Amino acid sequence: MTSVPRIELHLHLEGAAPPAFIRSLAAEKRRDLSGVFDAAGNYRWTVFRDFLRVYEAATSVLAGPEDYARLLRLVLESCAEQGAIYVETFVSPEFCGGADLPAWREHVAAWSEVAADMDRQGIASRGIVTPIRHFGPEKARRSAICAAETAGGWIAGLGLAGAETAGKPQDFAWSFDCAREAGLGLTCHAGEWCGPQSVRDALGLGVTRIGHGVRAIDDPALVRDLAEQGVTLEVCPGSNVALGLYPDWPSHPIARLADAGCRVTVSTDDPPFFDTTLSREYDRLADAFGWGEPDFARLNHWALDAAFCDAATRDRLR
Ligand code: ADE
Ligand code: ZN
Repeated sequence: MTSVPRIELHLHLEGAAPPAFIRSLAAEKRRDLSGVFDAAGNYRWTVFRDFLRVYEAATSVLAGPEDYARLLRLVLESCAEQGAIYVETFVSPEFCGGADLPAWREHVAAWSEVAADMDRQGIASRGIVTPIRHFGPEKARRSAICAAETAGGWIAGLGLAGAETAGKPQDFAWSFDCAREAGLGLTCHAGEWCGPQSVRDALGLGVTRIGHGVRAIDDPALVRDLAEQGVTLEVCPGSNVALGLYPDWPSHPIARLADAGCRVTVSTDDPPFFDTTLSREYDRLADAFGWGEPDFARLNHWALDAAFCDAATRDRLR
């Protein structure tokens, strides 16, 4: 492992759930999750739509603040083992009590307690409230209200995940405006399944970060704009390769984006789904592009610059 302290900005909490944890919850609750796991006990999916289906089926056994708090602790422990000192994780009111504000507050209180404890153990974290694009703008509004009402502590941002082909970023403008007014940082998945226009549309929401953003590489003018505006790309190369966006690591555009002056960072997205870890991402970047400590130090510096935590936490982590 490199000695560079790692910052992870793009990690879906449910997507980081170890399959064994989901299986044990399903057994406790006598829930049938056939179709979710393969014979070896790993998540079983084929293409992106199927990934989303399996993701949502696995998530359905998580019920209530206690399950979600146990999950956050497991995930942060595993990130710490991977050398992370700061993690931002996507959390979705739409999965946690159906974007009902009292239920949401209970989830945030439970996460905040775990996060404070893990902070004392050397790993800081924040949550990014993440509406699901294919659940539609109306549910996103309710999530944004949950975000705004719990802003300021552990909840530090608003994002947008799910099927990028389902609706335009502009359809979610109300939610992003609501979150901005509450002082939250803004990011949006874009340029994963759709091309450069999707990234431009996401920038129109006033985000400072883009989740993935890799398809910007198809438009040199957009790449220049991203570099000039200092927009941070939350790049998850292992996810992109596993989902078939790129056939292999050497074809992935992360190095070309970095060479063009874009602020690229590295995250794992949904590690057990994509058979990855932070260490594997770094090792494969080293193999594919010859990246070493100075490159990793630079991208982690950019990641901390772009983190949605307060300035005091950022200074403490520098
Ligand atoms: N939710 C979890 N992983 C995702 C991804 N890679 N893209 C969009 N939504 C997601
Ligand atoms: Zn993602």
